[in-house]
Amino acid sequence: MRRKYTLALLACLGLSTLPALADDSTEALARTCNNCHGVNGVSAGGAMPSLGGQSEAYLKHIMLEWKSGERAAASMNRLIKGYSDEQIAGLAKYFAAKPWTPNTQKASADVMARGKDVTDKCETCHGATGGQPDDETIPRLNGQSAMFMHLELDKYRDEAFLMTHKKMIKSARKMEEGDVGIAAKYYGNQSK
Ligand code: HEC
Ligand code: HEC
Repeated sequence: MRRKYTLALLACLGLSTLPALADDSTEALARTCNNCHGVNGVSAGGAMPSLGGQSEAYLKHIMLEWKSGERAAASMNRLIKGYSDEQIAGLAKYFAAKPWTPNTQKASADVMARGKDVTDKCETCHGATGGQPDDETIPRLNGQSAMFMHLELDKYRDEAFLMTHKKMIKSARKMEEGDVGIAAKYYGNQSK
């Protein structure tokens, strides 16, 4: 009885779905990420960051920190717990191999002028426009979603929010309240 049911079910599903069922590749996993992060990890903006073209080391590191519970998040810390370390490593490699595609968001001349001053202290690590990270542990900021960056800076600034990177925490906490959004918009406007 059971066997008959299984055979009937397989027949119903048809051949066309079989490759999908058998496909446990990184590509298939990455498709679930694209619902929020955009195709090839290029975000349409809002609270969702672009992933495509960030360094493999950064992507892997941040996901493993969420999985271990060392680091908090709005949703990724819970979401990533369902993935093995091997799957996480595969996803980091997959998105790092995509080109970084800046989503240049409009900002006024006043915001850009103030943003340049405010981000002077950030330049040694992120580069003048956020597009020249000094090493593999530093994410690209040029053309990243400004709203996302504002939210992240607030997390680094909030003592009650579990973040790990001491130097970035220190940099974010030194900022004036009103400059946080300006820095985020400044980087969001950059194309390079
Ligand atoms: C339901 C929407 C959603 C899905 C699905 C999703 N993410 Fe996220 N992701 C977010 C949000 C929101 C953030 C911002 C961090 C936070 O607070 O959770 C984020 C942040 C990230 C970051 C940090 C980027 C940075 O620059 O700091 C990485 C890496 C990431 N996600 C990887 C993935 C991967 C890989 C998948 C698929 C396995 C995935 N995400 C699926 C919503 C999602
Ligand atoms: C000592 C080097 C250093 C300095 C200085 C620095 N950053 Fe960072 N920044 C980093 C690193 C490394 C990360 C990733 C940290 C982590 O893993 O949590 C980061 C993360 C970020 C993020 C989150 C991006 C994302 O994709 O999650 C933003 C936004 C940011 N920095 C903005 C700034 C601003 C604005 C300043 C100056 C006020 C600044 N940073 C100064 C090294 C630095």
